Amino acid sequence: MCGIVGYIGGNEALPILIEGLKRLEYRGYDSAGVAILGDNLEVIKTQGRIKDLEEKLKNVKLKGTIGLGHTRWATHGAPNDINAHPHYSESKNIVVVHNGIIENYLDLKKMLIKEGHTFRSDTDTEVIAYLIEDFYEGDLLQAVKKAVNMLEGSFALGVMSRDDKTRFIAVRKDSPLIVGLGKGENFIASDIPAILNHTKDVIILENGDIAEIKRDTVNLYNLKLEPIKRNIQRINWSVEDAKKGGFKHFMLKEIFEEPRVIKDAMRGRVRDGKIEIPDLALSKDFLKNVNRVYFVACGTAYHAGVVGRYATEKFLLLPAEAEVASEFRYRDPVIDKNTLVFVVSQSGETADTLAALRLAKKKGAYTIGIVNVVGSSVSRETHDTVYVNAGPEIAVASTKAYVAQVETILLVILYLAKLSGKLGRETEKKYADAFLKLPELAQEILGQSDKIAQFAANMKTIEETFFIGRNLDYALSLEGALKLKEISYVHAEGYPAGELKHGPLALVTSRSLIIAVDTYTPLREKTLSNIKEVKARNGKVLSIASEGYEKIKDVADAVFYVPKTLDELSPVISVIPLQLFAYYMAEARGLDIDKPRNLAKSVTVE
Ligand code: F6R
Repeated sequence: MCGIVGYIGGNEALPILIEGLKRLEYRGYDSAGVAILGDNLEVIKTQGRIKDLEEKLKNVKLKGTIGLGHTRWATHGAPNDINAHPHYSESKNIVVVHNGIIENYLDLKKMLIKEGHTFRSDTDTEVIAYLIEDFYEGDLLQAVKKAVNMLEGSFALGVMSRDDKTRFIAVRKDSPLIVGLGKGENFIASDIPAILNHTKDVIILENGDIAEIKRDTVNLYNLKLEPIKRNIQRINWSVEDAKKGGFKHFMLKEIFEEPRVIKDAMRGRVRDGKIEIPDLALSKDFLKNVNRVYFVACGTAYHAGVVGRYATEKFLLLPAEAEVASEFRYRDPVIDKNTLVFVVSQSGETADTLAALRLAKKKGAYTIGIVNVVGSSVSRETHDTVYVNAGPEIAVASTKAYVAQVETILLVILYLAKLSGKLGRETEKKYADAFLKLPELAQEILGQSDKIAQFAANMKTIEETFFIGRNLDYALSLEGALKLKEISYVHAEGYPAGELKHGPLALVTSRSLIIAVDTYTPLREKTLSNIKEVKARNGKVLSIASEGYEKIKDVADAVFYVPKTLDELSPVISVIPLQLFAYYMAEARGLDIDKPRNLAKSVTVE
């Protein structure tokens, strides 16, 4: 997730771009840059935030009434000056800003290198600029059309040419982009807040739209360059509302981003019935000798690791443990050169997680980071890193990062199983196909969020909750309980369903709420029996069950059905109702959801 802004009109472009970028900084903040077309086509960019870019701009005079700006959240290539956008084409006649992921960029890059081109950055974006230049024969619009037809993946683009001061071109596929319509000036932006000060009239581009943005006109085309029409919408949001996409809180916005997040986590990894992790360097030979696997992490990331433990046992047939990093770092974990350690972290900066990683490395383990923030400490220090591509997470309570972590871990484990000959071709295809359906299923769940909201509103005075489940549903129970306690301040415990009768059942009364996660088919009858135990003590039960499990309706007080997928993939989507429940409970209780008391987003101290 990055932020794009573009301007053409009668005013100096630079201040308008900088103001827009500041309002998009929530979309990414590891590097920023602008391109201004005046007497020359100049690009100024830097690692860091918009204020660092402003600092750099103090020493340069950038004059021109047409320009593009970008604030980056790295996906391909570390956050540094060279990888920052805008990207020039090889001759510096074209510039491109891009938000999204180009899945086939390595193939395209290889092709261009073969043709004799030399690249400057590690990004997927640079390939787009080079392609456009290759196709350029005096008409930027035609060149962009030809180039984008070769791209696979997601992209929102702004493209400018040194030779053409009358227009710039924008394209949208699977990454958001809007056009802002002014008087004698027009804009593009990744999101509405960037341009709200200048206009309230916008066109929301749709997938496959190409926009030719001139000072007085905006022309829209499809990918064949046939003219199309889109409605103009009037936006009456405040800037703050606009940043949250009209949602009341970032947390809810981030939950509703999950279908997109699920897609991005598998981009370039699931294709043609195959699962590949191109970012993984670990060798087949090393894999042969691995005899133990750990997942180390904190909080929500640890809970994603618990899913990883089950998946490792099932698909890699290896002993696996999920460990809380703050414990692991002070133990004497049995680790040697045949140990594989996954280090899971959204921020990549959590102090305990980093210490656990360093301990594992010292003892000779091979380490793989499952990380969201590109270039973060964990990603720099692990032997291999697989990014989860969730985009910046702003709410303190982690939601979309968890979904992306779980999905990425499952993809990596399945890929390693394939590499070590433990996953047959048919099974790989079965999982690959099921992954591709997950975004749609997540959307289906979100479409029923009002049911969860209603249930939460009815339960808002409850003070005691248990989340129970078995196997992967137990992993989900841990996360459901953490979400509820951290933002709604309701006491919540995640328990293996079979353990209830060994103690906690004594606490169950008519004042208790039990959230029973029952999506894992092989054990659902067992969990059903545990629900009956709770009901016999007058506890209230909300069950999260898989579609089609009708029996549970007769036992639980309320059932929320999640659409059916393969059992092992279910956590990616079954967590959504749990996240929504925590959110709506906190909302019903009138709490500060995005900034819960006593908590911080990234815990960089021990
Ligand atoms: C909970 C939450 C925390 C983090 C934990 C690890 O919603 O956000 O429990 O998961 O502090 O943070 P990262 O993943 O950045 O290492």
